[in-house]
Amino acid sequence: MKRESHIDRRRFLQAAGAAATLPLLSSCDQPGSGTNRPPGIPLSAFDGDSTALEVTEGVDLSGKTVLVTGATSGLGLETMRVLALRGAHVIGTGRTLEKAKAACGSVSGRTTPVALELERWETVVSATELIRTLGMPIDMLICNAGIMAMPTPEQVYGIEKHFVVNHLGHFLLVNRLLEQVKAASQGRVVVVSSLGYQWAPPAGIEFDNLDGRRGYEPNKMYGQSKLANALFSLELARQLREAGSSATSNSVHPGIINTNLGRHFDAWKRVLSKLIGWTFMKSVEAGAATSCYVATAPALAGVSGHYFEDCNPVVPQPGKHMDDLALAARLWQKSTELVGEYLA
Ligand SMILES: NC(=O)c1ccc[n+]([C@@H]2O[C@H](COP(=O)([O-])OP(=O)(O)OC[C@H]3O[C@@H](n4cnc5c(N)ncnc54)[C@H](OP(=O)(O)O)[C@@H]3O)[C@@H](O)[C@H]2O)c1
Repeated sequence: MKRESHIDRRRFLQAAGAAATLPLLSSCDQPGSGTNRPPGIPLSAFDGDSTALEVTEGVDLSGKTVLVTGATSGLGLETMRVLALRGAHVIGTGRTLEKAKAACGSVSGRTTPVALELERWETVVSATELIRTLGMPIDMLICNAGIMAMPTPEQVYGIEKHFVVNHLGHFLLVNRLLEQVKAASQGRVVVVSSLGYQWAPPAGIEFDNLDGRRGYEPNKMYGQSKLANALFSLELARQLREAGSSATSNSVHPGIINTNLGRHFDAWKRVLSKLIGWTFMKSVEAGAATSCYVATAPALAGVSGHYFEDCNPVVPQPGKHMDDLALAARLWQKSTELVGEYLA
């Protein structure tokens, strides 16, 4: 009863706070997908208030190995903390070994720090070689690291940086570890996308503007990279199914959470988020819930190629390319070309 009235109050504050401030914080991720459910996919009793601890309660992850990228901050750190607490061996990546060690050392349970800088693909190669030498299957590979809304265009390898860090780095990582995921009894890839997919350009992915030099807008570039996350997961799911593998791939939107992701926002937006964000944003504990749920829920063992919000499957906004299989296949082909020499 007490929890229900707390939740009602929180929902009221969320609605009022969001209505008042979302137009101002226009570069934050915003709700708007609606809640159409894909048929035939199990629904959970969890929602946007559920925490990662709650959605994994009773799940024993002893003997399982998880890889979490961006485990040094925000949602990745909470994901690592909770999955390690549930008994998993968590390989937590950081942009430097020092950062990864500090993050791993801050949580209880079995963790292994690994250096992974997604915009330097030789580090993706060395990280995956190291992980391969550990020799165990990967039960859950959670592509969580990300950047948002870089104010000015930056290129790495001649490609726009959101696309490189959020999509291509993870594309390379997953492909290099795919055999280990397939070797698990039921391996799962979870790709952290975002409702920001809605901000992608009308074409979805601008293959003729991958350096982002034409019409650069921070949110558009973030949106394109987050659409790419979801399309990568969709095509991976198709390929795994075709190969007869029991491994699955799904994408998630974690919610709106005040983390370091907003580091590139204007100062006033960061101050506003700190002051009133609590009225409509999720806590970090709740923000990590959807990834943890999709990675661990026994009910989702055969579920692949779907998109989740608030610990449940959602049909993404129509017309925004999230279910565009042809675009997903084209993105896969282009990504393979771009990271080609590092894939082998
Ligand atoms: N927070 C939200 O409201 C929200 C909403 C929708 C989706 N998401 C998604 O959730 C994921 C986690 O974000 P968060 O909110 O937890 O943000 P965060 O606190 O900024 O954490 C991001 C993590 O990614 C790492 N990272 C950044 N650039 C990297 C690179 N080049 N190579 C390797 N790692 C890199 C960061 O390391 P450093 O700290 O060392 O840079 C950090 O560990 C992101 O994919 C984001 O797009 C978040």
